[in-house]
Amino acid sequence: MVVWQENITPGRFEGQAVIVTGAASGIGRASAVRVAREGGRVIATDMSGEGLDKLVADYAELGFVYTVSKHALIGLTRSSAVMYGRRGIRVNAVAPGGTRTNIHAEFKSQLGAEVLGPLLQANVPPIAEAGEVAAGITFLLSRDGSNINGVVLPSDNGWNAV
Ligand SMILES: NC(=O)c1ccc[n+]([C@@H]2O[C@H](COP(=O)([O-])OP(=O)(O)OC[C@H]3O[C@@H](n4cnc5c(N)ncnc54)[C@H](O)[C@@H]3O)[C@@H](O)[C@H]2O)c1
Repeated sequence: MVVWQENITPGRFEGQAVIVTGAASGIGRASAVRVAREGGRVIATDMSGEGLDKLVADYAELGFVYTVSKHALIGLTRSSAVMYGRRGIRVNAVAPGGTRTNIHAEFKSQLGAEVLGPLLQANVPPIAEAGEVAAGITFLLSRDGSNINGVVLPSDNGWNAV
């Protein structure tokens, strides 16, 4: 197995400002740190996860809520890319596979565990570090990604191809 190592490109984000949501933890945190280490200005935002915890507790079938929210995000990404592209604002999304963060991947329903559990056990590639996902995110944010707009980029070690 190839061990991933972070390669900092000094000055890659010089003169750029990047807004990172969910910057207190996990992939957001790793992306914010990477942009900052490469000379960018980071506007970091986050909120307490308490509201989310409550949502999880309130909806036993949260798996459905999760899937719906991710599809909404794809639509939002594409729509925003079209609306704001001519103003020099690019909007892309990254779809991570299993990544070591603070997120807990427990099934909230018996149906979810029964249907998805065996599939995940059979097919999940090795868990990525947050910084590895952040590396793909910062590529999209950098000037090297200047011609890339409205895409959903999987960063999952090929999981989506299984
Ligand atoms: N870790 C994984 O294996 C994995 C896999 C697939 C997708 N994802 C997705 O990647 C994204 C980041 O996940 P992570 O693993 O870094 O999780 P994480 O829990 O480590 O970090 C998420 C951060 O976002 C913050 N946050 C939550 N809602 C917010 C809001 N409305 N506004 C601002 N901040 C908010 C939380 O307080 C937390 O600091 C999530 O959308 C998650 O569903 C993660």
